[in-house]
Amino acid sequence: MIRNIHSVVFSPTGRTRRAAIKLASRIGGRLGVPVRQDAFTLPGERENRRVYGSNDLVVFGIPVYAGRVPNKIVPWIKELFQTEGEADPEGGAEREGVRSKVPAVAIVTFGNRSEDSALRELQQILEGLGFCVFAAGAFAAPHAFAEIGLEHPTLSDKNHLESLADSAADALESGAPLKSVAIDGGREIGPYYTPCGTDGRPVNFLKARPKTDPALCDLCGLCACSCPMGSIPQAHPDTVTGICIKCQACIQVCPTHAKYLDDPGFLSHKAMLERDYRRPAESKIYLP
Ligand SMILES: Cc1cc2nc3c(=O)[nH]c(=O)nc-3n(C[C@H](O)[C@H](O)[C@H](O)COP(=O)(O)O)c2cc1C
Ligand code: SF4
Ligand code: SF4
Repeated sequence: MIRNIHSVVFSPTGRTRRAAIKLASRIGGRLGVPVRQDAFTLPGERENRRVYGSNDLVVFGIPVYAGRVPNKIVPWIKELFQTEGEADPEGGAEREGVRSKVPAVAIVTFGNRSEDSALRELQQILEGLGFCVFAAGAFAAPHAFAEIGLEHPTLSDKNHLESLADSAADALESGAPLKSVAIDGGREIGPYYTPCGTDGRPVNFLKARPKTDPALCDLCGLCACSCPMGSIPQAHPDTVTGICIKCQACIQVCPTHAKYLDDPGFLSHKAMLERDYRRPAESKIYLP
């Protein structure tokens, strides 16, 4: 019997957090169970391990980066989240879940291009930690850095989210053994997506860092508080001193619009997305 629902997210710009809490709240409403919001987005949120048991339901959400689970957060997921169930090092949809595993609904949000392999990869990681991912969804959202997908969530996205929540609640209420859901027919996890520019050639902006316009920055420090990598020093918020995953949190939180990325490869990729991915992408759900 489920006694707690945990909405657990990595969500630098908030789209995944909003989708996960909507989903968890609807399941919680159906089951009459409270929902706890949790995040591992910021360094201070990654100080303690979480351990879940078979009375917990975890709604686990991440954004899609380059068609996969963001590579920097994979080790954090593996270190921070544990289950009292037995871990399955293989993971995978072909295996039958058992009641003693911790039930999980896995979701990803993607910025109107494609979720590629990210949801399947997230399922494999979670099942390796002892969760049974018995329901899952990939939800289209506004892109974090390109002006596409602004129409999401559409009515269709909303209907998909509600169907996923209702089917998950039905499965939990039925008391029948939960099974690992097959995502995309259980196909192999593909390579990271290679970003291209407007000329169709690959671009590499791994070394790009947000810059700060000194005329606009009032040193309020909000960007430093919002960086998942802890790479913006509070004392010098106009600099980036560590790893940057290009998540856009610092740019979007800045009240004076002082932060920006001007890397030519990044800008060309952004322009390509805005040219080629204007159609509204469909969200996908995988029901128990
Ligand atoms: C570095 C980076 C890479 C991304 N890669 C993809 C991608 O491969 N496909 C896609 O559709 N959206 C991609 N996006 C868009 C995000 O997946 C999307 O905006 C997501 O909803 C952001 O989640 P958040 O608001 O919870 O941070 C990318 C965004 C960033 C910042
Ligand atoms: S949020 Fe903007 S204004 Fe505030 S310190 Fe950062 S760059 Fe400066
Ligand atoms: S510096 Fe990079 S990692 Fe940190 S918030 Fe800004 S875009 Fe994200």
